[in-house]
Amino acid sequence: MQSVTEKSGLKRYLVTLNVNGDSYTRVLKANAILANVLREELDLIGTKKGCELGDCGACTVLLDGKPVNSCLVLAVEADGCNITTIEGLAQNEKLDQLQESFIENKAMQCGYCTPGMILSAKALLTRNPHPSEHEVREAIAGNLCRCTGYVNIVKAVLDAAEKQ
Ligand code: FES
Ligand code: FES
Repeated sequence: MQSVTEKSGLKRYLVTLNVNGDSYTRVLKANAILANVLREELDLIGTKKGCELGDCGACTVLLDGKPVNSCLVLAVEADGCNITTIEGLAQNEKLDQLQESFIENKAMQCGYCTPGMILSAKALLTRNPHPSEHEVREAIAGNLCRCTGYVNIVKAVLDAAEKQ
């Protein structure tokens, strides 16, 4: 990875992130956090920040198809990787089936956990298109929701699996 050294001696790195099909190159500090880069550099504010400790899952994005807590990933680690954020799920102005099912099943209240929840569910349905309720609950275990009690969220994921 290319680096540039500023007059102050601080080293920065040329990082390329492939986000939702678009490629972005930014000069970043070694300790730049992926969640912050997505929100502050790329204006992709659908990625939420909660605990910033890896506990709540609000910041979940897909990194080469796998759900990760983007508050725990350094942007330099994601150099050259494919990242999907919630903004990348709808295609040609058509919502993803998971998004439709979350709406239909009233699977959100404040909505703060929803982007991360949907991306964890997306990764599940990609690797396992017909999950059991137990498998859905397992897949979203790292995504905390303080509002819904999870019942409608699980229903929504099962509904999306059935309809996709
Ligand atoms: S903000 Fe990343 S896990 Fe909570
Ligand atoms: S809908 Fe509010 S935290 Fe999940």
